[in-house]
Amino acid sequence: MNTVAPAPAPVALRRSVELTVDGDPVIAPEGTTILQACRARGIEVPTLCYLETLAPVNVCRVCVVEVDGSRALVPSCSRPVAAGMVVRTDSERVRTSRRMVLELLASSVDLSTAGSDVHRWIEQYGARPERHGPAARAADRDHAHAGHHEAPAVGAAATVAQPVKRDNDQYVRDYAKCILCYKCVEACGEEAQNTFAIAVAGRGFDARISTEFDAALPDSACVYCGNCIGVCPTGALMFVSEHDLRARGDWDESRQEVTRTVCPYCGVGCNLELHVQDNRIVKVTSPLDHDVTSGNLCVKGRFGFEFAQE
Ligand code: SF4
Ligand code: SF4
Ligand code: FES
Repeated sequence: MNTVAPAPAPVALRRSVELTVDGDPVIAPEGTTILQACRARGIEVPTLCYLETLAPVNVCRVCVVEVDGSRALVPSCSRPVAAGMVVRTDSERVRTSRRMVLELLASSVDLSTAGSDVHRWIEQYGARPERHGPAARAADRDHAHAGHHEAPAVGAAATVAQPVKRDNDQYVRDYAKCILCYKCVEACGEEAQNTFAIAVAGRGFDARISTEFDAALPDSACVYCGNCIGVCPTGALMFVSEHDLRARGDWDESRQEVTRTVCPYCGVGCNLELHVQDNRIVKVTSPLDHDVTSGNLCVKGRFGFEFAQE
């Protein structure tokens, strides 16, 4: 019997677009963003709310660039390239805007556990958060109502400081470190987990990430997948194990080894990155570039490691 080979799948062809970035001609596939075009050229553009596995939400505005013909600076993480576009990534206007964003964030949020890039950008753009004055007294943000924000004392910098939330054995929520990048909300919602346990509550300066009715995590819809921890850029969401080691002054990444392995719990084959310090697993991450899981895990892969080290 003759068999007929299946027709090859149609190849999606993408047209190329020619634009100018910082004076140089650049060719990028149609539909890619300015940020992707910049990264392909090795041009660094800072980002906070952007992650390649999530849809851009455009909230931090630290990635802005100047585009000829555009009155406002444009967010490079979401604006697609267009033929003839003229982009400047490092003009005085761009640098001033990034400096302002970084300075306001650093004056109101505890960035002590944010990635090293954030601290480098603060230096690089000349942000001086200290000029806003000493940090104001922590407020009870969970009870703040829209329109009732209390201004801080004159000369003090308003902050998002509030007590650490520790209401379960898996992870800690320290929203004094939250820059409201929305990544956790996206990861918990339609971008990955579809659990929708957390969202933004409040408005203006009193906006904060919250469970429904500010319920403790065990009383909320949370299923402890930890995908929110995996995307948090500041350490506001943190494994209990990491949080406790940091509190004791024992957290030391130079003593940690990261071993990639396959989750033993089921047949999906999620990849795990075991972070091991002093022969103990201290946290588990998952590689963003894995084509099955894109950095996401379930509760077993993320937190079910204690059995290995009893
Ligand atoms: S652990 Fe999972 S379900 Fe719980 S808040 Fe985070 S992303 Fe949502
Ligand atoms: S908790 Fe982390 S991921 Fe969520 S909004 Fe705040 S900084 Fe972003
Ligand atoms: S990284 Fe583009 S708006 Fe936040």
